[in-house]
Amino acid sequence: MQERKKWNPGSEGFRWLKQRSHERVCPMNVYWLEQVQGDVPSGNDWLSASEAACQQRLPFAKRRADWMLGRWTAKHAVASYLNLPARPLVLAKIEIRPAASGAPEVFVDERPGAVSISLSHRDGRAICAVAQSGVDLGCDLELIEPRSDAFLSDYFTAEEQALVARATAPDRARLVTLLWSAKESTLKALHTGLRLDTRCVMVSSESSCDLNGWSPIQARYSDGRIFHGWWRQTNNILRTVVADSPTDSPVPLRITAGSTDYISQCA
Ligand SMILES: CC(C)(COP(=O)(O)OP(=O)(O)OC[C@H]1O[C@@H](n2cnc3c(N)ncnc32)[C@H](O)[C@@H]1OP(=O)(O)O)[C@@H](O)C(=O)NCCC(=O)NCCS
Repeated sequence: MQERKKWNPGSEGFRWLKQRSHERVCPMNVYWLEQVQGDVPSGNDWLSASEAACQQRLPFAKRRADWMLGRWTAKHAVASYLNLPARPLVLAKIEIRPAASGAPEVFVDERPGAVSISLSHRDGRAICAVAQSGVDLGCDLELIEPRSDAFLSDYFTAEEQALVARATAPDRARLVTLLWSAKESTLKALHTGLRLDTRCVMVSSESSCDLNGWSPIQARYSDGRIFHGWWRQTNNILRTVVADSPTDSPVPLRITAGSTDYISQCA
C-alpha cells in the first residue's frame, strides 16, 4: 500500500504537489478514467481562474458542457495518477491547457506536469487517458452507429475497406467505429488531429480480449511509426487508447476520497 502524505493547502503542501508531479508512477502503463455529465458539479471552484474565464467565453452551451466534462475528467484522472487528493483547491491547481495544436497539456501549480494525457467527450460521457510524460498518447470515445459507404471510401484505406467488406452485417457498424476511433486516437497521439488525411493511419485489430475487456489494436502511420493500443466496448460505446510504445491493457483510475467528500459537501 502506497504511503499517502497528509494534504496541507499551504505553501508546503504545494511544494509537495510539485514534487509529486515529477514522479513517475509506473513506467509505460496507460491509465484511464471515464466520467459522465451527471458527475460534474454545478459550481466551478475546481477550475483555475483562467479556465473559468475560458469556459465563459465558449459561445455554445453544448460545447461549454463538453469542455467542463472533459476538464473534470482530466483533472480527476491526473489527481488520481499523481495520488493527489481530488479537492477543489487541488483540482484548480491542475490545469489542462490546449497546446497550439489543440492537444491537452497538464500544468500543476503553473509548471508542466510530468504526465501525458489525451481526452475525448461524446454524448455526455468523457474519457481521459494518462501516461508518463513524453509518451505520445491518444484516446477516443465513439457511439457504435451505422456509417455510410461514402464515409468508408472517403476516410479508410483500401485494406481497411476490404476488412469491412469481409465483416458480417451485424459486425459492420462496430468494426467501422473501431477503425475510425483508432484513427482518431492515433491522430491525437500524433498531435495533428484531423488536419492529416485519415488514410495515412492504417488500423489492424485482433479479436482476442484480455481479462479486463480490452482487446489489442495496432495503427501504422505512413512514415512507418507503429502505435500500440487497446479497444473496449460496453453497450453501444466504444473507446480506444493508443500510445507510441507497447503497453499492458489500460488500468482504471479511481477517484480519490477527497473528491467524494467534495461531492457530498456540494450536495
Ligand atoms: C482532435 C480531433 C480529431 C477531435 O475530434 P472530436 O471527435 O470532435 O472530439 P473528441 O471529443 O474526441 O476530442 C476532443 C479533444 O481532443 C483534444 N485535441 C484537440 N486537438 C488535438 C490535437 N491536435 N491533438 C491531440 N488532441 C487534440 C482536445 O483535448 C479536445 O477536447 P477539448 O477541446 O475539450 O480540450 C479534432 O477536433 C481535430 O482534428 N482537431 C484539430 C483540427 C482542427 O482544429 N480543425 C478545425 C477545423 S479545420
